[in-house]
Amino acid sequence: MSEYAVACHNVSKAFGSVKALRDVSITAKAGEVTAIIGDNGAGKSTLIKIVAGVEQADSGHIDLFGQQVDFTNPEEARQAGIETVYQTLGLIEDLTIWQNLFLNREIVTGFGPIQLMNKRVMRQRSHEMLTALDVHIPSVRARVRGLSGGQRQAVAISRAAGWSSRVVIMDEPTAALGVRESAKVEELIERLKDKGLAVIVISHNFDQVVRLADRVWVMRQGRVIAELSQEELDAAQMVALITGAAKGDKLNESGDLDD
Ligand SMILES: Nc1ncnc2c1ncn2[C@@H]1O[C@H](COP(=O)(O)OP(=O)(O)O)[C@@H](O)[C@H]1O
Ligand SMILES: [Mg+2]
Repeated sequence: MSEYAVACHNVSKAFGSVKALRDVSITAKAGEVTAIIGDNGAGKSTLIKIVAGVEQADSGHIDLFGQQVDFTNPEEARQAGIETVYQTLGLIEDLTIWQNLFLNREIVTGFGPIQLMNKRVMRQRSHEMLTALDVHIPSVRARVRGLSGGQRQAVAISRAAGWSSRVVIMDEPTAALGVRESAKVEELIERLKDKGLAVIVISHNFDQVVRLADRVWVMRQGRVIAELSQEELDAAQMVALITGAAKGDKLNESGDLDD
């Protein structure tokens, strides 16, 4: 088996005349946090959407534990063990926490026309999914509408972690959160990593990246311009790479970003 949980090989993707990704190759290992950083429009979300089966690459390919995968929709990625938490979280306000955790995966008992949703089992499992990550929420019967930003994020991450067997991807997991709530979410991310999952995080918070990441990929205008290991992580250097003040080790002389 490959040492990489996820390996993107020379992935390119255009939306009309916009080249969102140009020959992007990145890797992520199990039991590590891999961060992807870059300015708005760098292509970060497009890349993870391709890994998650939401978008399809124009060229290049993706390997999951050394096996090439060709997801044509998000369901196929989920079945392969990849769960994604998007910036919008994907929670339904008027449903309870347990209903959100089991959204589209309801446990049903019985056959034919008399199928019954097994609410008791789903509530119990929901409680287990939250406590497994040490998430404290008064009741799984509470509606999402009444939760704080941090609690919502915790529910969304618990759902991803509860269903994911291999890879959890998070797009800006703490962007909408305060300091204390962000710290909680960072703890959750550490727990996913300790459970042996490959965690891929997009973040604009460089201090957070320094705290969490084992490896960082820097993107600019659709390309990967640098790969940094944990020892090389430095917030100022990351800012310089993102803004173009520093060049990036993956750019050769012909690495023209202006086309
Ligand atoms: N569905 C889409 N249709 C058209 N353009 C898109 C679409 N998704 C992304 N883009 C464009 O692709 C580029 C990369 O976007 P994105 O991957 O969202 O960047 P990031 O997440 O790094 O901010 C941007 O120029 C964006 O406008
Ligand atoms: Mg984005």
